[in-house]
Amino acid sequence: MRFLITGGAGFLGTALSNRLASLGHHVTVLDDCSAGDPAHLLPDVQFNKGSVSDKTLLWTLLQDIDCVFHLAARISVPESILFPSGYNHVNVTGTVTLMEAVRDTGVKRIVLASSGAIYGDQTENPYQETFSVKPRSPYAVSKLAAEHYVRTIGYQNGVQAVCLRIFNAYGPGQRIPPSHPPIIPSYLKQALTNSSIIIHGSGKQTRDYIYVDDVVNAMVTAATADGVDQEVINIGSGVETSVLELVRLVRQVTGRKPEEIYNPHKSEGTSRMCADISEAYEKLNFLPMVPLETGLRLTMEKDPLLKQFQS
Ligand SMILES: NC(=O)c1ccc[n+]([C@@H]2O[C@H](COP(=O)([O-])OP(=O)(O)OC[C@H]3O[C@@H](n4cnc5c(N)ncnc54)[C@H](O)[C@@H]3O)[C@@H](O)[C@H]2O)c1
Repeated sequence: MRFLITGGAGFLGTALSNRLASLGHHVTVLDDCSAGDPAHLLPDVQFNKGSVSDKTLLWTLLQDIDCVFHLAARISVPESILFPSGYNHVNVTGTVTLMEAVRDTGVKRIVLASSGAIYGDQTENPYQETFSVKPRSPYAVSKLAAEHYVRTIGYQNGVQAVCLRIFNAYGPGQRIPPSHPPIIPSYLKQALTNSSIIIHGSGKQTRDYIYVDDVVNAMVTAATADGVDQEVINIGSGVETSVLELVRLVRQVTGRKPEEIYNPHKSEGTSRMCADISEAYEKLNFLPMVPLETGLRLTMEKDPLLKQFQS
């Protein structure tokens, strides 16, 4: 098959592009390199630097494409609170522009990397796709708007649309920006460098951590599965893990004893969060294969930056 992957030089995009290329598919990537780096893409992957807002470029790249994976986005919740219009521009207007080009070029299916952040704080756990959503940040709003645009423009134009609400993905290759880094690579780095781990709030808040290979499995299946048009599907591990438990596992896999610093003034965010993955099993035959402890070990062993800190 012929795939276009927007954001294909990012953390999830690189893993997806390389998997599809290894399976013998023709893979084209579009990424503006604002956060991604094409250095880790396999040579078979055709890389193009550019924006999802460039409709002329999209028209060219979308010729003869069977399926688009739309991953290009700005992804930081705290940053989105500071720059909502920038997030709206890339995550919403960028998605609408892409959908116009998809409509014009006869693409058959689009798979959107949506987010579990859309749910906000729910009273019941695990989160089901039928829950009414309560987005709590411009990032979450932008992903929800992207879902609606992908499904609506897809429906009107005979393009099959699948939205995967990914929970907290982690694994090798995830960037560690200096401000607001994702928790797993950041905690691993802090432990391996004998630095302190900062725990926001009580540490009792829970999240659903899913290893990158499991996310990629779900995405690859979503490209060809029957009966998924217009579906919104949670992709998580189905396991709820507190920050305190995560810290315990990080200590165990690294063999280090980082100092724990509690910051009670910083909001711990949503109190409980776990994906109900029964829909994913039913529609995509999806079963997560990598438990958190194994995933943490794999991340430590395979991540180019974290590898340097082990000796
Ligand atoms: N990683 C997670 O835990 C997670 C969870 C839920 C949803 N998602 C979604 O999955 C997707 C990929 O996330 P990721 O963690 O790999 O993030 P990432 O930042 O590593 O990847 C996003 C990529 O999009 C590119 N990009 C940004 N703006 C662009 C534009 N205008 N045109 C072209 N490319 C652009 C960036 O350069 C980057 O390579 C995002 O849409 C994100 O919202 C990720």
